[in-house]
Amino acid sequence: MNPFDLDDIPANPSRAESLDQMLARLEGRRRFLRGGLGLGAVGFLGGLLPAAQAFADSPSGRAAALGFKAVPMSTADTVAVPEGYAHAVLNRWGDPLAAGAPAFRGDAGDDSAAQAAQVGYNHDGLHFFPIDGKDGVSGSSTEGLLVTNHEYVTPHYFFPQGVQPGGTGWSLDWVRKAQHAQGVSVTHIRLDAQGRWRRVEDSPYNRMIHADSPLRMSGPAAGHALLRTRADPEGMQVRGTFGNCGNGWTPWNTYLTCEENFTDYFGTGGRPDEQAEYPDEDYRRHMQRYKGGGKTADPEYAWDTHDARFDWTQEPNEYNRHGWVVEIDPFDPAAPPRKLTALGRFKHENAALTVAADGRVVVYMGDDQRSEYIYKFVSEGTYRPGAAGNRTLLDRGTLYAARFDGDGTGLWIPLALDTLDTDGRRLGARFNDNLGELLVKTRQAADAVGATPMDRPEWIAVHPRTGEAYATLTNNADRGSGKARWPDGPDHPGADAANPRDKNIYGHIVRWREEGGDPRGTSFQWDIFVLAGNPLRHAEGDPRRGSAHISADNTFNSPDGLCFDAQGRLWILTDGNDKNGGDYEGQGNNQMLVADPVSGELRRFLTGPRGCEVTGITWTPDQRFVFVNIQHPGDGPDLDQAQAEPLTVSTWPDGPAATRPRPATVVIWKKDGGAVGT
Ligand code: FEO
Ligand code: CA
Ligand code: CA
Ligand code: CA
Repeated sequence: MNPFDLDDIPANPSRAESLDQMLARLEGRRRFLRGGLGLGAVGFLGGLLPAAQAFADSPSGRAAALGFKAVPMSTADTVAVPEGYAHAVLNRWGDPLAAGAPAFRGDAGDDSAAQAAQVGYNHDGLHFFPIDGKDGVSGSSTEGLLVTNHEYVTPHYFFPQGVQPGGTGWSLDWVRKAQHAQGVSVTHIRLDAQGRWRRVEDSPYNRMIHADSPLRMSGPAAGHALLRTRADPEGMQVRGTFGNCGNGWTPWNTYLTCEENFTDYFGTGGRPDEQAEYPDEDYRRHMQRYKGGGKTADPEYAWDTHDARFDWTQEPNEYNRHGWVVEIDPFDPAAPPRKLTALGRFKHENAALTVAADGRVVVYMGDDQRSEYIYKFVSEGTYRPGAAGNRTLLDRGTLYAARFDGDGTGLWIPLALDTLDTDGRRLGARFNDNLGELLVKTRQAADAVGATPMDRPEWIAVHPRTGEAYATLTNNADRGSGKARWPDGPDHPGADAANPRDKNIYGHIVRWREEGGDPRGTSFQWDIFVLAGNPLRHAEGDPRRGSAHISADNTFNSPDGLCFDAQGRLWILTDGNDKNGGDYEGQGNNQMLVADPVSGELRRFLTGPRGCEVTGITWTPDQRFVFVNIQHPGDGPDLDQAQAEPLTVSTWPDGPAATRPRPATVVIWKKDGGAVGT
């Protein structure tokens, strides 16, 4: 395990068994689904999963042709794109956000004040908002706001002074610098006459919303006692968004940023764990459910030592104010971003939004930790183009957790106060009959109703025509291990139909179709689109187990980022093991591939530099340009080498003479001016 990969944090439990009471309540719907498909119970080791035929029958799901020649696996410290394509780098970590802002130096002169005026670190989800757009996707293809998540910092590259083991060497300025580099950047970019994308340096839109910026709480949990702190006795005003992983966007032109590994920064103020008492048993259970039992902050960070609000022994509720989806209006720098508590609190990966026929808004979300859940939110109100009320649509609605059953059907179970848990008790009884408390403790609610623990849900993407949803399950080495998901919790479950491998080191992609094609529905059909891995090394990589065509030449592990283009091609971005040996032979550096969701054709489009993750993808409306993020170059299985000789793993993108790698955005275009991917 890579200790710098903050996505790789063990923890969590559950009784995922179906219970009689719930089955009785839901049996009617299940009979309908089974009858409609003519399905019987099918063991998960038995060939194609039963719902696959339903997906293959969907001609409208077929992608336009994959019109490029695949790039080979790579171990080089560079970005490679197909013949006929070109790429350029923009928005490197440390690039100034405004004219007059400090330039990146790469030495001890890069302090917290400089960082606040520069592009942040470890780029993740991103979205291009056309400058003249109103709906998030249409408008100019030559000028717009590029909004980018910055997930965390890699200390030994981020601090030129070098980081000491165990987090020693940190100061308050180091904490502030790290806080200023995490969050969301908004950059105004424009295509110049030479065909190069450049920042508009004097634009009023350019800014960082970082881990010390003012935000507001919104939705059912806003103001709840669990969100009140000494600095904010109303529980309404919060400082900071951090751990910003994947993203989403709305048709009313706003950006959604997802707080993922928020737990790593909270600890006991640098004191030994044994000196820290939990305030009470409920607090212990709640914190351990999210933090995996650990009391101290991640040893790579020392925020809790230098910034008291991250010391939970002093400010126990600050912890509850993070782990949400945040809505940002990139076109209104004066409007404080809002934390959307109606969408639940967990380690949010991304937020894939679709609109039902009646205008209700549906948001699919994954909780990225081993053996965690998939969720969706259905709004109470309806979307109307241009309506002012769209701005509060994500504040009221119903949150659901997914249960994937072995017969290829599934259920969305409402996390509502009146839902019966697997013991037949009202969920409300566990949460003082308060929806705000339930949402703060979303995972505990999903445990109680028997949601299915999945292999680290990462991104979800919705097909633009069929409405089918695809979700990456990046890997789960703990499945079937017998290890506890958290202290006093159940063990990680063994393989099941939707997560068919014990010790799943390669990951897979699952997809579902809502009953009647209605995203508001409470039941669905599902199958496995692809089991990733190396078919030469691992029999479970057999392509017949999924619909897509893994081969020895065209393989990958740990799918993470995921996006459909407007023609229905599925773009798969990876964050996996790139040691290129043993079980990972033939996979090389992390990469981006394209798949046809119906034929299963799969082709590698891009390889990244050494040690990087490829993540985050967005398009200009004309699809002539695609923007992709390169996160944590120089990281990965060569970490030991990186610590011994920090500059030898990667110096991308500045070249061999550079002092350190820099996360950045890459823009790719077809030299003949055609749409990317055609
Ligand atoms: Fe930030 Fe789960 O990736
Ligand atoms: Ca990663
Ligand atoms: Ca990710
Ligand atoms: Ca990941």
